[in-house]
Amino acid sequence: MSTDHSFQPKIIGIICNWCCYGGADLCGVSRFQYPPHIRLIRVMCSARVDMLHILRAFSNGQDGVFIGGCHLCDCHYVTNGNFNAFSMVQVFRKILKHIGIYPERLRIEWVSAGEGIRFANFMNEYSEQLTKLGPLGKAEGMDEKTLAFKFEAVKKIIPYIKLVLTQRLHVPVRTEEAYHEFFKSDEFNRLFKELILDKLAISLITTLLRKKSLSTGEIADSLVLSPSEVAKHMIGSSKQGLVRYDVNSKRYALA
Ligand code: FES
Repeated sequence: MSTDHSFQPKIIGIICNWCCYGGADLCGVSRFQYPPHIRLIRVMCSARVDMLHILRAFSNGQDGVFIGGCHLCDCHYVTNGNFNAFSMVQVFRKILKHIGIYPERLRIEWVSAGEGIRFANFMNEYSEQLTKLGPLGKAEGMDEKTLAFKFEAVKKIIPYIKLVLTQRLHVPVRTEEAYHEFFKSDEFNRLFKELILDKLAISLITTLLRKKSLSTGEIADSLVLSPSEVAKHMIGSSKQGLVRYDVNSKRYALA
């Protein structure tokens, strides 16, 4: 938690044209106050927000990313895209947590065009929450290099995560209850672990090996993994031709 009282978090809000933007507009017209350090970007639907946008925002120094859409089931498009945005955020927050970043830095909320006060309340509350957390990276005990390295590793597997989202983390019923229930379930945790965590670990390892060859112990220390976990990933990655082991130096390098 930040003790720097002068800190003002940089927040980017990516909000849908049809509801949340209307809410933000009404908020302004009604003169409800919210912090001036929040910048808004209008998109046609919350489903338009890509994981790459979020990563870019964090990489460019934003302390928080807010996604605002129409209430679930009120999306203005037949596909009800805000359910997709909701799923993406649940997965991305888990990834952030796994790489040591406070998942609260990414937030999604629903605001209708008539809810100016709800928009102002979210902005004030979110800004306060991020102020307490502190600056991205510093609050997590990470320097800029480490942060950039972790984002790079995540970026490499984004196409894969998108595939997992559509093919394996698909919730068959488009209701708020079904989505909340699924993303809180053990089943989701199991699938996340099985389908995403290993890929993420391998991506972190191969990103690390781009700089220099390393031993199992050095990789384990850098990524706070156990040597047996690293060994498991290295065996799999060697079989796939991603890395090679040098018997003389006892180090792994990119193949
Ligand atoms: Fe607003 Fe889809 S149009 S979330």
